[in-house]
Amino acid sequence: MVKITFFTPQLLFICVVVTLSSAVTVEIPVTAPSAAPKVPGSLFSLSIEHERWLDWAGNTSRNEFFFNVLDNLISITDEGPQIRIGADSEDRTTYQQGIEGVQLDIPGPSSDVPYPEASNVTVGDGFYEAARFLPPGTHVIWGVNLKADNITQAVLVIFSSYFRQSMSHKT
Ligand SMILES: *[C@@H]1O[C@H](CO)[C@@H](O)[C@H](O)[C@H]1NC(C)=O
Ligand SMILES: *[C@@H]1O[C@H](CO)[C@@H](O)[C@H](O)[C@H]1NC(C)=O
Ligand SMILES: *[C@@H]1O[C@H](CO)[C@@H](O)[C@H](O)[C@H]1NC(C)=O
Repeated sequence: MVKITFFTPQLLFICVVVTLSSAVTVEIPVTAPSAAPKVPGSLFSLSIEHERWLDWAGNTSRNEFFFNVLDNLISITDEGPQIRIGADSEDRTTYQQGIEGVQLDIPGPSSDVPYPEASNVTVGDGFYEAARFLPPGTHVIWGVNLKADNITQAVLVIFSSYFRQSMSHKT
């Protein structure tokens, strides 16, 4: 007698699932156990593209929504998050004195890329000054375009990002 012929693959699968789900019990406590390790307060941090930085931070006045999100986070974690501003668009960014805000060259959308990234991001001092719209204690890391291989550009960006904001940062 061959009993196993009763078990089609589907039946076998159902049996396995039932066995597993009845064997595993996961309890999630409402408060963290006293022995639980603490994660760093800045575990939640952000990386923002240069081309959208002013949308997040605010251009001429602070973005209240973004400010409140970060401020609430700081009061929960007791630590300012790390905000990295650059990502891959930093290597398409050129600094030009006198530019207000940011100027973007955005290629036309296609069916493959309906929301294209800017091919060219031109920024002035106000771009870096917008870091003042972040809550105090936020750590800012600015991206510098090293792909352009232009040391004058890199130094100008470092000076602008350093002198145009008053909070702690790394460049
Ligand atoms: C930022 O503000 C300047 C000055 O009002 C304006 O020329 C520019 O278009 C604004 N840029 C953005 C991204 O809102
Ligand atoms: C980027 O835009 C700026 C300002 O419009 C322009 O001077 C510069 O030539 C552009 N760079 C490239 C690589 O297109
Ligand atoms: C490097 O950057 C400086 C400052 O923006 C600019 O004047 C110069 O033309 C650039 N050099 C090259 C080779 O593009």
